[in-house]
Amino acid sequence: QATPTRQEQPAVTKIRPEDLRSRKWFNNPDNPEMTALYLERYLNYGLTREELQSGKPLIAIAQTGSDLSPCNRHHIELAKRVRDGIIAAGGVPIELPVHPIQETGKRPTASLDRNLAYLGLVESLYGYPIDGVVLTIGCDKTTPALLMAAATVNIPAIALSVGPMLNGWFEGSRAGSGTVIWKARERLAAGEITDDQFMEIAAASAPSVGYCNTMGTATTMNSLAEALGMQLPGSAAIPAPYRERGQISYQTGKRIVDMVWEDLRPADIMTRAAFENAIVINSAIGGSTNAPIHLNAIARHLGVPLNNDDWQTHGHDIPLLVNLQPAGTYLGEDYHRAGGVPAVVAELMQADLLPHPGAITANGQTMGDNCALRRTSNDDVIKPADAPLMQAAGFINLKGNLFDSAIMKTSVISPAFRKTYLSNPDDPDAFEGRAIVFDGPEDYHHRIDDPAENIDEGCILVMRGAGPKGYPGGAEVVNMRPPAYLLKKGVGALPCIGDGRQSGTSGSPSILNAAPEAADNGGLALLQTGDRLRIDLKACSANILVSDEILEGRLKALVAAGGFPIPVSQSPWQQYFRELVQPFDKGMTLRDAPEYRDIARK
Ligand code: FES
Ligand code: MG
Repeated sequence: QATPTRQEQPAVTKIRPEDLRSRKWFNNPDNPEMTALYLERYLNYGLTREELQSGKPLIAIAQTGSDLSPCNRHHIELAKRVRDGIIAAGGVPIELPVHPIQETGKRPTASLDRNLAYLGLVESLYGYPIDGVVLTIGCDKTTPALLMAAATVNIPAIALSVGPMLNGWFEGSRAGSGTVIWKARERLAAGEITDDQFMEIAAASAPSVGYCNTMGTATTMNSLAEALGMQLPGSAAIPAPYRERGQISYQTGKRIVDMVWEDLRPADIMTRAAFENAIVINSAIGGSTNAPIHLNAIARHLGVPLNNDDWQTHGHDIPLLVNLQPAGTYLGEDYHRAGGVPAVVAELMQADLLPHPGAITANGQTMGDNCALRRTSNDDVIKPADAPLMQAAGFINLKGNLFDSAIMKTSVISPAFRKTYLSNPDDPDAFEGRAIVFDGPEDYHHRIDDPAENIDEGCILVMRGAGPKGYPGGAEVVNMRPPAYLLKKGVGALPCIGDGRQSGTSGSPSILNAAPEAADNGGLALLQTGDRLRIDLKACSANILVSDEILEGRLKALVAAGGFPIPVSQSPWQQYFRELVQPFDKGMTLRDAPEYRDIARK
């Protein structure tokens, strides 16, 4: 369903060839020596003076595919079609490498490298003769890293998803990325399958090139790049190997050239209205709890005010429409065939739930114009808004003396959990519990099954030291399983709270992304095992039931002892990251970086 999106001539021509940024390099009459120096080196691989000096825009293809980034590797192939499109529309393609960010392969976490890739791409786009850029997105953090860089530099930019993998199948059922491994791990532990069978199941979930086929962070962020208006309509969900993927790559290449002439820039597309649309669409697709971190970051780099209260205000009441694993049944191919993001937007529009149909998108049309007439072809995959998979699928933003902000997806609270924790008729939205505090994932694994910890159903598991500074980049470790002795008794889940993150492929009812983190001496750092906690989901509060005087005393003692302990950095970047990083609710951006805006015009 790739949409033809470009008219033969750009609708609006706002800039002239002599206004192109690249003219400063290749056609600068005030500086003939530098012009010669720039030219000879770009000529040396076969570009001609005609291409560089006749007023054609130079279009970067920011390449995230490499052998280190298998999720995005297919972009190496797709870039050929992008080049064809750029040339067909009268531009000159310039492919450049982006620092690799592969979600499952990078230690200690790929999240650490989002800001590194951001910094690198900002310098490449700013410092070289580039008039516009195609952002090749896919694996989890590649999408926000590239959108953040485009926001800072603010040259015309369009995103191109690599597309999800084909559906995985095992024993006649859909086998989804991540999700199938969590399930198979239990069968392996129970002795039902061998190591080799376990590997076979894992491999079955990854049958082709492309990003994760479940509604994890990759599908979420690719869908949201389209929801923000930064991709051609329908682009996010086309599976990587489909012919339409090559076709939309060509159209994306053509379109970016026109965007240069139209002077249509990221700040014109990613407005406050676009972010409100994206928050609503995130709830409707069942998007990852990583989305607020990344969208808040992109917004900060644009100077658009956006915080976690906005996610609750605009997103909480929106129903879940997309029936994808882990919350539902289907996978990426089904999502695309059912209509992808445009069909979701059309459903939301019909129910009057899309706040800003007039938001402009990369093809120069509005979100409403692009999507209003789309209909899902399978209403079991994309549900109608009046018969959704789930009501109120968005996040709430909790606050209190434990932290200033933390995200929770209340829609994944199971009936069993609700019965155990939220069934007091006098107090139906709140529960209290005894805190069991873990300092990082190693401490948790070490202690969780120890009967001496005396963990029971009245406990709340707390993970700290797992935030952006504590575990550089933030660890996906907050959803913790109960001790084995409780699992045997049938207690499948305990409430979890933490300053780390949670994988987009997991659906536990955890309180996540707490800011400030323990490493910033936030409330979590003052907590002691045995303290009572009170969580109120209606008041959106989370508090330590200990007096202010006692907490102040603990803070003084903590500061006197040198603050919450932070492990030694293992690389220079880890150290710089820790020194500069801002909390999760501020998007985990680097200090000062959001002050640099629209730099291509400076
Ligand atoms: Fe790269 Fe999921 S691990 S997309
Ligand atoms: Mg992840």
